[in-house]
Amino acid sequence: MDYFTTTSNAARRAVDCVIVGIYDRGKLGVAAADIDAASNGTLQRLYKRGDLSGQLGRCAVLNDLPGVRAPRVAVVGLGKVSKFSSRQFQRALAVALGTITQTRSKSVLNALTLETGDDASAYYLGRYTAQAVGDALYRFTEMKSGKKKPGPALRQVGLSIVKRGDAKRAMRGTEHGDAIVEGMNLAKDLGNLPPNVCTPSYIARTAQKLARKHKKITARVLNETEMKRLGMHSLLSVTAGTNEPAKLIVLQYKGTTGAKPVVLVGKGVTFDSGGISLKPPPGMDEMKFDMCGAAGVIGTLATVAKLNLPINVNVVVPAVENLPSGLATKPGDIVKSMSGKTIEILNTDAEGRLILCDALTYSRRFKPEVVIDVATLTGACVIALGHHRTAVMSNNDSLSADLISAGIAAEDRGWPMPIGEEWAVTLKSNFADLANMGTREGGAIIAGCFLAKFTDGMSWAHLDIAGTAWKSGKLKGASGRPVPMLSEFLLARCGALP
Ligand code: BES
Ligand code: MN
Ligand code: ZN
Repeated sequence: MDYFTTTSNAARRAVDCVIVGIYDRGKLGVAAADIDAASNGTLQRLYKRGDLSGQLGRCAVLNDLPGVRAPRVAVVGLGKVSKFSSRQFQRALAVALGTITQTRSKSVLNALTLETGDDASAYYLGRYTAQAVGDALYRFTEMKSGKKKPGPALRQVGLSIVKRGDAKRAMRGTEHGDAIVEGMNLAKDLGNLPPNVCTPSYIARTAQKLARKHKKITARVLNETEMKRLGMHSLLSVTAGTNEPAKLIVLQYKGTTGAKPVVLVGKGVTFDSGGISLKPPPGMDEMKFDMCGAAGVIGTLATVAKLNLPINVNVVVPAVENLPSGLATKPGDIVKSMSGKTIEILNTDAEGRLILCDALTYSRRFKPEVVIDVATLTGACVIALGHHRTAVMSNNDSLSADLISAGIAAEDRGWPMPIGEEWAVTLKSNFADLANMGTREGGAIIAGCFLAKFTDGMSWAHLDIAGTAWKSGKLKGASGRPVPMLSEFLLARCGALP
């Protein structure tokens, strides 16, 4: 996407469409007031008539306004003045872009302002705009046959800035935003692909392709024989019932010398049937999204590499398919994990933790500064937090706080959940060192406690993205989360933010 900045009056800019905002009760935003003045009070008149609304989520496109150079003006509702912040800005912008991409507009000027007034606001104006544009333009049509409908025509996006001095920061925001979009699109594509295409081998090839694209990334893919040699019997127990070979995918991005890496571990279950503890049929197709943790960490690495960040980041993806068969792992089976701990598998549907614990143990060889695992780990997490917040659990309060604030800044929010002995006791087994399932109550926390047992001495956080990685229903599709949160976290860590 092509971006530019402008300080000129929105009425005088020759673009195909201008986006302006109107608050609740008809108060016009700065650019809306300019358009109104240039067109002899048309916006105020239309508002009084009831044809324009200040409600958040509403949008009207006005054509050929007198005195306005752009042939289209998208007037978008911003909600209450007192409630307006970056969140409402992003909602409104998404709605406006959704409407505009239905027109043949090639160029648009986003004349909405963040109006927080601080130094970072020009940067985030650029960031949020690029991310909203990326979301509005994303299509997944790879699997459709027949003649492809042409996608949106949008090629050029302008940002209204308050003063010339903001231009550089705003453009930097768009550059970062574009890189985040690239990472999110990769994550969305991997998530949306069907499970007969997006297998562990497919994810491995995608990772290798990413490494070929960027000099600073190296890829290594371990096969089942190599994993067996490492003692990853917990991971391997999950793949026992399928013919799809499991892969342990390792990517290393070297952006600086001497620094310990941040290690990102992503759950890559390319289809989770539950195994012998088979899931019920309704909605089972959505278990193709059970590799969205893997997609999220690979996507984040794509963003990091695109921005050439001065930081070291490693990605570890245990990729498997979880199916039942005559060879599948059974409830009651006991396996030895790479850490040496034995695990009684009470439920073969609690497979995420079985592959992640070995991936976390493997991560120790990198002597990481921090380890963050990302996983669609529990249905219980969706019950606890719904679809808007990623659960954040950690053995390090400041790491957890950093992830939460990164989520706020990137508008990809997380929420802290506890871990501790009170919950962990439910993982006791009469026969092995621990069981892979505890009580139903607090299921997301108990899963976190299971992983915590494999992270002694490491600074570790766990993101349960079960509720946030994809949308169901009519808008079914991968969300690209938590690429924005993780990218923000890494950008902040290497001092690349204003
Ligand atoms: N991949 C699922 C978790 C999941 C379910 C994510 C629904 C999103 C929507 C995971 O492997 C799983 O099946 N977890 C079980 C654990 C239980 C058996 C302890 C669950 O949440 O029911
Ligand atoms: Mn499962
Ligand atoms: Zn799963």
